[in-house]
Amino acid sequence: MILITGANGRPGSAAVREFARQGTPVRALVRDPEKAGDLRALPGVEVAYGDMLWPETLESALAGVDRVLMISSAGPLMLETQCTFIDAAIRAGVGHIVKFSGKDSIDGFDNERFRSSRSHEQIQRYLVASGVPWTVLRPSQFMQVYFEEVPDIVASGELRLPLGDTTLAPIDIEDIARIAYAVLTTPGHEGRTYPMTGPEALTMTDIAGHISDAVGRPVRYRDVTSEEKQRDWLAAGYPPPRASAFAQLFRERSRLGRSTVDLASHEHFGIEPTTFAEFARRNADVFRGATDYTVTPA
Ligand SMILES: NC(=O)c1ccc[n+]([C@@H]2O[C@H](COP(=O)([O-])OP(=O)(O)OC[C@H]3O[C@@H](n4cnc5c(N)ncnc54)[C@H](OP(=O)(O)O)[C@@H]3O)[C@@H](O)[C@H]2O)c1
Repeated sequence: MILITGANGRPGSAAVREFARQGTPVRALVRDPEKAGDLRALPGVEVAYGDMLWPETLESALAGVDRVLMISSAGPLMLETQCTFIDAAIRAGVGHIVKFSGKDSIDGFDNERFRSSRSHEQIQRYLVASGVPWTVLRPSQFMQVYFEEVPDIVASGELRLPLGDTTLAPIDIEDIARIAYAVLTTPGHEGRTYPMTGPEALTMTDIAGHISDAVGRPVRYRDVTSEEKQRDWLAAGYPPPRASAFAQLFRERSRLGRSTVDLASHEHFGIEPTTFAEFARRNADVFRGATDYTVTPA
């Protein structure tokens, strides 16, 4: 049996949906049964409950599992959550852990300067040292993070970010889910790391242009200072640790400025990379503010 953790979240639910689409049975770990309704409706998906921080809650979720796609939130608890889960999975006899990590597309990005990247590095070292066969997926920024800008886009027709003319190479979570499916269902990936980005390095002006074309009205990029954006995030209700981690991330991105596209993983698995224009067209109603972004559509 294959287990996907973080199954109520953005990348986890996309991976579960890919299994359902392919007709391959999968078990989905969630910690909040209230939120798992959409997952339960997917064919071949068995929903299991447990908290990755509390090994005693994971016994039945891990029973009979050979391989895991390990995902949890990028918050301050990620290091403890994933290291605790690795120990529990090994004790339960899991034979292969595929860690969902991250890698910024920015050239020369220093992982030590951003809390999540730093934690991912530490977890990867812990996983490798544990002795269990492992694989690491390292996607760049998700295209879906631009949904967080929808309230501004709808209210003012502006995409407000502190990035100047920095380029980023965001990737569609659906592409990552297809690559994760291939890694989890075919042999030969132990000890390998798969970095991946989207197919283009884009300025925020380019991204605003693609959103504008998709929604059929003007959307302009407005460069703001990191302090202004941090105030916006706090006013929008982001917890302070999240707002300050984002400020760290954006400072490092604009300090360096240029991204490199890496499609080697897409090519290796024969996955056609989704462009931002295609992603924006597919999600035009979300960018119009007409539909909420559903993490796990039924
Ligand atoms: N955002 C990006 O652009 C980006 C790019 C590359 C890589 N990443 C990485 O992708 C991963 C997912 O990030 P995200 O913030 O986008 O995810 P997300 O949508 O918040 O999903 C994370 C999921 O993990 C679950 N989870 C967290 N702690 C748990 C626990 N103790 N036990 C069981 N489940 C738990 C959450 O459950 P609930 O639903 O109950 O909260 C949530 O469903 C992170 O490691 C992040 O660093 C992100």
